[in-house]
Amino acid sequence: MLKASFKINSDNRIGKIDPRMWGSLTEQLGRGVYTGIYQPDHPLADENGFRKDVVSAIKKLNVPLIRYPGGNFVSGYNWEDGIGPKEERPVKLDLAWKSIETNQFGLHEFMKWCQTIGAQADMAINLGTRGIDSARNLVEYCNFPKGTYLSDLRIKNGQTEPFNIKLWSLGNEMDGEWQIGHKTATEYGRLAHETAKAMKIVDPTIELIACGSSLHTMDTFGVWEETILDHIYDDVDYLSLHQYYDNDDHDIKKFLSSSVDLDSLINDVIAICDAVKARKHQNKTMYLAMDEWNVWYHSKKADDKQKPWQIAPPLLEDHYNFADALVVGSLAMVLMNHADRVKIGCLAQLVNVIAPIMTNISGTPTIWLQSIFYPFMQISNYGQGETLRVQSHSESYSLENRVVPYVETSAAYNSAKNEIVLFIENKADKEVEISYEIDDFPAINIIEATQFCGYDLEQTNEDQLMKIEELKQLNLDSNRVVGKLEAYSWNMIRLSVKDKG
Ligand code: AHR
Repeated sequence: MLKASFKINSDNRIGKIDPRMWGSLTEQLGRGVYTGIYQPDHPLADENGFRKDVVSAIKKLNVPLIRYPGGNFVSGYNWEDGIGPKEERPVKLDLAWKSIETNQFGLHEFMKWCQTIGAQADMAINLGTRGIDSARNLVEYCNFPKGTYLSDLRIKNGQTEPFNIKLWSLGNEMDGEWQIGHKTATEYGRLAHETAKAMKIVDPTIELIACGSSLHTMDTFGVWEETILDHIYDDVDYLSLHQYYDNDDHDIKKFLSSSVDLDSLINDVIAICDAVKARKHQNKTMYLAMDEWNVWYHSKKADDKQKPWQIAPPLLEDHYNFADALVVGSLAMVLMNHADRVKIGCLAQLVNVIAPIMTNISGTPTIWLQSIFYPFMQISNYGQGETLRVQSHSESYSLENRVVPYVETSAAYNSAKNEIVLFIENKADKEVEISYEIDDFPAINIIEATQFCGYDLEQTNEDQLMKIEELKQLNLDSNRVVGKLEAYSWNMIRLSVKDKG
């Protein structure tokens, strides 16, 4: 049997977990919005057209932040098309996804929906086809109290109080050739700097995220970050990272090593930020926004066959299997283990489009939950407080010059609840014996221990049979949690401890 041992100590903390770590992206793409979160003619729609079944599922995920309206969509979007009387809104071509955008869902609907699900907005602006003028106008429309043409227009459109949107993304994946209005690093750096300047004149209290690379494997990775930071280090609070993983090679060991790649991506970006910081003689630390991350590959062939120019076509509708859930769980733990630098995270996406929640347009069941829903739900609810640094000893395997531990973990200390929460994933095809030493946290009790396991790696969850179960093979031996974890398993252990401040 495999063995793994871990140790945490109350004084050894990585950093506070920003509640925005467990956010999501909702893009005007496919059925993400239309027939996803918004479907006025559905029997379960509320008075705003929001699907109540979807709202309840999202609430289970405890999503604190939504990035909107894209994604690639934003780089061709005019925000003005989505305000005012719905019958007067223009129907337009969405060039990013070759679809028809009806604009029946826009800014006001989005903000109302955020309020319904209890999330903050991260508003992305179009730096593809547009720039400074539309961005500063949008900030004025959203955040200026009253007395100007745009703030009064917001009031006329039904919103008296300013929306007060605090977090803004300066474009999307501007390094990618596929992006409408793709730019070189210098072009983007200059435009982002001037746009940030104008936006902050309108509202100096806003926070800004700059676009980092779209993928770790981009040819321009590294140079992109360094160049743009030269222009915008003073202007922005966060640099974005995006990363998706696939199992196109049908190589489970490689797929399960995605977390090791994500860890190295984050370390690479931190190193670049800190090098620019040193070169600029800066005191300010650049924080990171991992504002697109997930597994994405199942739907790509079907998407290539979709006819262009449909309204809300089924695009990017991955049906996730159990292996994908293990990868999502381990990626989330990597984010948690970088809580000192990664302050914002957005699982991409939320409903129907590479999503944990799927809807049926009609009939029953009205929605179904994907395999990836379960680990994400647990970490978004319980990965709160501060991340503790774990001393890990796990057997490992080597892959492409990397060491991949079979057992990965992250640990949170939630002082508000006097709880320690351990997330542990066994990536091996056999059981593992674990020992988790909890040093210097007196009076430990196990509140809850769960496991998510026992499924074929290829199994998906359309029939809704997957569930989280009790983890029984576990004991508390003084200050040590000892037990056995199943092969290929995602586990969570909640412990109560005395207040350590
Ligand atoms: O999330 C799907 C797409 O992936 C987003 O629109 C884009 O930003 C990324 O390439």
